[in-house]
Amino acid sequence: MGPVIGIEVDGTAVEVPEGASLLAAARAAGAEVPALCHDDRLSPAGSCRTCLVRADGRIAAACVTPASLGTRVETATEDLRELRRDAVEVIVSALPPRALAADNPTELAHICRSLGIGPETAAGAGGGGGDDSHPFVHLDRDLCIACGRCVRMCSEVQGTFALTLTGRGADTVVAPGTGGPWAGSDCVACGGCVDTCPTGAITEPGPARGLTSGTATGDALTRTTCGYCGVGC
Ligand code: FES
Repeated sequence: MGPVIGIEVDGTAVEVPEGASLLAAARAAGAEVPALCHDDRLSPAGSCRTCLVRADGRIAAACVTPASLGTRVETATEDLRELRRDAVEVIVSALPPRALAADNPTELAHICRSLGIGPETAAGAGGGGGDDSHPFVHLDRDLCIACGRCVRMCSEVQGTFALTLTGRGADTVVAPGTGGPWAGSDCVACGGCVDTCPTGAITEPGPARGLTSGTATGDALTRTTCGYCGVGC
């Protein structure tokens, strides 16, 4: 283990590895900081502003800000909560209400509930449509927030580079890098994108198409990705 440094999170002293992010330090101290575009397995993007904290008096995105010796971090003040809520409201405003339905189990819906953002904030009309061409991966463009986690998972972990972000501004969504339907892309169905997607935009298609569902034992027959192994077999 490399050198550690001491910092303070919400008044509590904590030691973290040198170079750790404020997000990692905050979580090591037991603080709950939402982080929508972040996945510990991936390089940080710092694009969603959901993880804002105050470090030595300055507002900072915790996922891309390294901890320094003696840094005093605040994570739980009401103004930080409001800043995070503002950032997430902008992100979800273009999504359809079902993105935040009460029974929606996604990471995004959970973060919204924790910030007091209700389904009424998601008032988008949809219309982006889906891509149902691939047997193991389904894309719902209306739920994509362009966080890029799937793109980074595909390139950094899987090494496949099958995905990209396309479009401009609020219309930016994930798409196969080959430009056509998912079925004709370089996707190897490793399931990494499904595993990291925080909104349900990329999912497994569900019960198998063309397979007989149900057995004498009551088991269901389902086609699925590896979910997630990273090998891509
Ligand atoms: Fe830090 Fe998105 S999680 S900016």
